[in-house]
Amino acid sequence: MTLRPILIHPDPRLKKECAPVPAITDDIRILAEDMLETMYDAPGVGLAAPQVGVMSRVIVMDCVKDPEAPPRPMVLVNPEITWASEALNVYEEGCLSIPEQYAEVERPAQVRVRWLGLDGEVHEETFDGLWATCVQHEIDHLNGKLFIDYLKPLKRQMITRKMEKLKRERARA
Ligand code: NI
Repeated sequence: MTLRPILIHPDPRLKKECAPVPAITDDIRILAEDMLETMYDAPGVGLAAPQVGVMSRVIVMDCVKDPEAPPRPMVLVNPEITWASEALNVYEEGCLSIPEQYAEVERPAQVRVRWLGLDGEVHEETFDGLWATCVQHEIDHLNGKLFIDYLKPLKRQMITRKMEKLKRERARA
């Protein structure tokens, strides 16, 4: 397993729609393992393939909060939202591609998601709480959408400028 560098916003690869995965191959299995390792290392609760520069519809997540509870690493290939609740929920979101910036985003409180597993089978599950927020946030990444796109333009521009500055500092280091 290899840690992969995480792209920082703004980056054109974070604004593009990703391609469906035609079949589960060894490349996809390796990508998923690397993404989980990269996510746990960061640490974060979710990561999408474009964040490591791979323009394929793959996301990983583990929203188990209780440190005593067993981890639940999930890999979702070609995830699709098949149902969303009318009830909404507000969460303070962050993103590994937008480090140390957080903002409240309103999304459906529950979603049903269908995806292809690494086992080659189609899975479907209803998510709520942090899991629901996370899966929607990660699927957005596959469509070139970031959580800051839900914010007012001024707030979004402020965060983007901070990230530009961060990238300049990192490039100089
Ligand atoms: Ni994100």
